[in-house]
Amino acid sequence: MRAPVEVLELFSGIGAAGIALGERARVVAAFDQDPVANLAYAANQGRSPLAKNLAGIKPGQLSAFASCAWWLSPPCQPHTVRGAGRDLEDPRSAALVRVLEAARALRPPLLALENVPGFAVSSARQRLRASLDGYGLAEAEICPTALGVPMRRRRYYLVACRDRNPSLECPAPVPMRPLAAYLDEPGGSYLPEAEVRGYGHSATIVDASDPGAVAHCFTSAYGNSRVRAGAYVRDAGGVRLFSPREILRLLGFPGGWHFPPGVDLRKSYALAGNSLSIDAVRWVWAAALGP
Ligand SMILES: C[S@@+](CC[C@H](N)C(=O)[O-])C[C@H]1O[C@@H](n2cnc3c(N)ncnc32)[C@H](O)[C@@H]1O
Repeated sequence: MRAPVEVLELFSGIGAAGIALGERARVVAAFDQDPVANLAYAANQGRSPLAKNLAGIKPGQLSAFASCAWWLSPPCQPHTVRGAGRDLEDPRSAALVRVLEAARALRPPLLALENVPGFAVSSARQRLRASLDGYGLAEAEICPTALGVPMRRRRYYLVACRDRNPSLECPAPVPMRPLAAYLDEPGGSYLPEAEVRGYGHSATIVDASDPGAVAHCFTSAYGNSRVRAGAYVRDAGGVRLFSPREILRLLGFPGGWHFPPGVDLRKSYALAGNSLSIDAVRWVWAAALGP
């Protein structure tokens, strides 16, 4: 039996990239500067990420992981409309730039990256590709809806292999699972109907009993901003926000995964909204790790 591939999880957040790994690979270290994300990661994954600002990382500090597969989920705000699309000019891109310098120096055998679709047309992507000179590369965009999950979250993925040409083939179509399968029983706090009517067409409300319902992408502003941060759901009790637990389910987190005590609702939404579709990442890992 082959030894599991060792993985370095960078910008680890609440750890979706590690959770998506099958038995062929395991995370040996993770890095994230957010202490609350690290707390949630540790409460569930049993190991704490290293709390470091990657904008100051030097290749020597990552050399112990030179033989690992690197997973990167850098901040997406430099490539979104909400984040003003400043690309490499955005100070939040500094950490990605430093990690790419380390990758260029250390040449890990495998590197994979996730970001929003805007990344595909960015200077950051050009910098990424230039840092991977000599690697076999595959790039694709996928939405969890293509994997049967009733939630939109289209994302750009890149897989780079030092010794082979990977391919990210479109998955075969699968039937969409009903949204109801991801929802809790009706209950909790509902929005006043007058408030709901006031949103007009700027808010998307999905019907829990509609077998074709698809939730819009949840962002880190969900629960904070009323519009364009994710969908609302109408069930037997009225219209309400999706709960963090329902969002985690749609993202593919395992049933027992939980936010530890002390993580408030707003932060739970922010961490879930920043995370990844585990179904989509599993598909990327399958391509990255090869046959
Ligand atoms: C898009 S989220 C990644 C989410 C993660 N993949 C997950 O499953 O939750 C980006 C992450 O990068 C972290 N981050 C942003 N800038 C950073 C920096 N300069 N150094 C270290 N971590 C950083 C954030 O705290 C956040 O958790």
